[in-house]
Amino acid sequence: MIDDDDTAEDDTAEDAAPSGAADEPAETSSARTIPHPLPRIIAIANQKGGVGKTTTTVNLGASLAELGLRTLLIDLDPQGNASTGLGIENRGLEHSMYHVMLHDEPLENVVEPTDVKNLFVAPASLDLAGAEIELVPAFSREQRLKRAIDAVIDDYDYVLINCPPSLGLLTVNGLSAAKEVLVPIQCEYYALEGLGQLLRNVDLVKRNLNPELEMSTILCVMYDARTKLSDQVVNEVREHFGDKVLRSIIPRSVRLSEAPSFGQPITTFDSKSRGALAYRDAAKEVHRDAS
Ligand SMILES: Nc1ncnc2c1ncn2[C@@H]1O[C@H](COP(=O)(O)OP(=O)(O)OP(=O)(O)O)[C@@H](O)[C@H]1O
Ligand SMILES: [Mg+2]
Repeated sequence: MIDDDDTAEDDTAEDAAPSGAADEPAETSSARTIPHPLPRIIAIANQKGGVGKTTTTVNLGASLAELGLRTLLIDLDPQGNASTGLGIENRGLEHSMYHVMLHDEPLENVVEPTDVKNLFVAPASLDLAGAEIELVPAFSREQRLKRAIDAVIDDYDYVLINCPPSLGLLTVNGLSAAKEVLVPIQCEYYALEGLGQLLRNVDLVKRNLNPELEMSTILCVMYDARTKLSDQVVNEVREHFGDKVLRSIIPRSVRLSEAPSFGQPITTFDSKSRGALAYRDAAKEVHRDAS
């Protein structure tokens, strides 16, 4: 929900955009040194709703694509916001992630190009909501996405998986297919609530299904420069997670929330906005860890 205050902030807080450096504890400044080989498969997950998973998937993906990296966004959320946010009409799709997950449709048959060069999307539509239940008796139900990605991975540098706000079978598929998890954390009250549960699930998947899985990256989003609370949350997150936390911080910005209704990532919708700059910085930081 964006209220009038946010609009005011957007107009007035340009100078106050967080760099992430000012409040950086010294011990984390040189960190994030563990290299991650390309291609990287990153699940963007947090079972809390509305914390910026989809906004991050779309805009980080677009920013990586802008760097010349072939990037596939897999929309695992029946809401389909990562698909529509990139201008893909997902109603009445003949083939979508539902068919990949339930009917062994090859992933390459559902992938669509977007208006952004190097950026591709495997769209979701509402029927994917049924998959949580339909998958229950299915053979190898936790590994379906992994198998689908295995067949196309050579075509991409990055695969970003937009997980739904739950810890059900779709998210488990996302975590089983990924090598890394990126968790967006809202700079607001209760930001860390439920995170323990997410981390326990990541650990469960790691132990039982995907030994390679690593919670590699935390991104602080919806930072509001006017509130002390935002800084407190960033500091708390850094204390907890140290060098996993990106130095780049995504500001709260109305432009970021407007872009999806125009079917565009922020990088093309308002290329010079604070949100676009912040996601570009985050993408560079993420890619710096690649080997
Ligand atoms: N940095 C931001 N500044 C302002 N609004 C934002 C920002 N990031 C996300 N939003 C808005 O907040 C709402 C929730 O964001 P988003 O859909 O990315 O979250 P989500 O975690 O994917 O949600 P869900 O759990 O429902 O899938 C959206 O309306 C989005 O436009
Ligand atoms: Mg979402």
